[in-house]
Amino acid sequence: MGNFFPRWTNWLPLKLAVALVFIAGGVSVGVAYYFTPKYTRVGYEPSQPIPFSHKIHAGQLGLDCRYCHSHVESSGPANVPTNETCFNCHGAGKGNIRSDSPKLAKVMQAQASGHPIEWERVHKLPDYAYFNHSVHVNRGVSCASCHGKINEMTVVRHEKPLSMGWCLDCHRTPEKNLRPLDQITNLDYQPSDLNRKDFYASLLAGGASKEGIAQVITGEEELAYQPSGLDDLVSMAEKEFGKDVTQKEVGTQLKKHWQVQPPESCAACHR
Ligand code: HEC
Ligand code: HEC
Ligand code: HEC
Ligand code: HEC
Ligand code: HEC
Repeated sequence: MGNFFPRWTNWLPLKLAVALVFIAGGVSVGVAYYFTPKYTRVGYEPSQPIPFSHKIHAGQLGLDCRYCHSHVESSGPANVPTNETCFNCHGAGKGNIRSDSPKLAKVMQAQASGHPIEWERVHKLPDYAYFNHSVHVNRGVSCASCHGKINEMTVVRHEKPLSMGWCLDCHRTPEKNLRPLDQITNLDYQPSDLNRKDFYASLLAGGASKEGIAQVITGEEELAYQPSGLDDLVSMAEKEFGKDVTQKEVGTQLKKHWQVQPPESCAACHR
């Protein structure tokens, strides 16, 4: 009769053991996801080589984020500005703003030596996670949703967890965060700042139909009432949402008419 069990079964115990290790690994990954604090890096605020303040430059002076982070709309990584950007205002012989200040000594040294300033990195995902700025800021997600109110920070602080659970919270309900594209770098934006009529006019101009807009306002697939035009939509919205424009109103419209569908599959962020 020879061997009743085929040869490979000799390896069965080992295979089972390996499988168990993998299953245990899977469980602990699950545990790590659900139970580790989401906020471990929140509050990280390294000191920088130069006391550069966003509160002064982006807040008080009102410089747009893109003046310095000029690639944020066109590429995956957002760039930190080169020395040249600072020299525009602080460089000797150019703008010359406070170029004798001790706080700017290192900027002046950088101008003399040509060496780049070595800023401390604040936000950093692990290498196995893929992230792209341009896809977010061109789809109505503001810097404020992911970095907080940078324009009020003297030193940049890690404000949001940037954990997987946090990414997914927004990917499942993006309407809580979407806003018009011209408000992406306006960190003080409130939906109630919008003029309702202008907002609906911009949706119509962007190709949305009256019926489509009315469906989102009422939540009805079959409209009980056919809107005749812009004024009609505005009064429908006022009845539904009240006097001020709300986030729900803006977010649900933009989600539908821009067809926003953030991915939830593993391969989208782990490629
Ligand atoms: C005058 C130039 C300038 C402007 C304007 C500016 N930034 Fe910055 N930003 C910098 C510099 C320089 C750094 C690196 C030093 C630091 O972290 O403070 C930086 C760092 C950052 C970081 C942290 C990067 C990291 O290491 O993780 C974020 C986030 C950021 N800026 C967002 C913004 C936002 C949002 C705005 C608009 C409200 C803005 N910045 C406007 C120059 C600027
Ligand atoms: C558009 C012009 C402009 C640009 C660009 C600019 N700054 Fe400034 N910066 C100013 C002004 C204006 C002040 C405020 C001066 C004052 O308080 O009188 C200031 C203040 C400062 C101060 C505080 C100086 C002090 O003595 O209190 C530092 C440090 C500084 N900037 C660094 C930088 C760095 C680093 C960059 C490049 C990443 C930069 N700035 C880019 C205009 C600019
Ligand atoms: C959807 C969330 C999200 C939005 C919106 C967002 N950021 Fe970021 N930002 C991140 C994440 C995540 C990182 C870390 C990226 C990494 O490590 O690969 C980051 C990193 C940065 C950095 C460091 C350089 C880099 O790319 O790693 C800067 C500067 C920055 N962001 C500026 C901005 C500015 C300015 C805006 C708005 C115009 C903005 N961010 C909008 C999530 C966001
Ligand atoms: C505040 C909301 C929000 C947050 C937070 C957010 N996302 Fe997104 N994400 C979006 C939206 C909106 C889109 C665009 C979907 C579309 O184009 O239909 C998107 C698209 C993507 C895409 C697909 C586009 C591409 O680049 O291939 C990836 C990947 C992605 N996000 C990764 C991340 C990661 C990683 C994080 C966390 C570090 C994150 N997102 C956090 C809203 C968000
Ligand atoms: C929207 C983007 C996104 C999607 C979708 C996503 N992940 Fe992640 N994942 C991340 C980010 C960002 C991190 C890094 C989190 C951190 O640094 O805290 C991460 C971390 C992880 C980790 C390490 C966990 C830990 O605690 O260290 C594992 C394992 C993982 N992801 C597996 C998955 C699997 C499996 C899926 C599909 C079911 C998935 N991810 C879908 C963004 C995503």
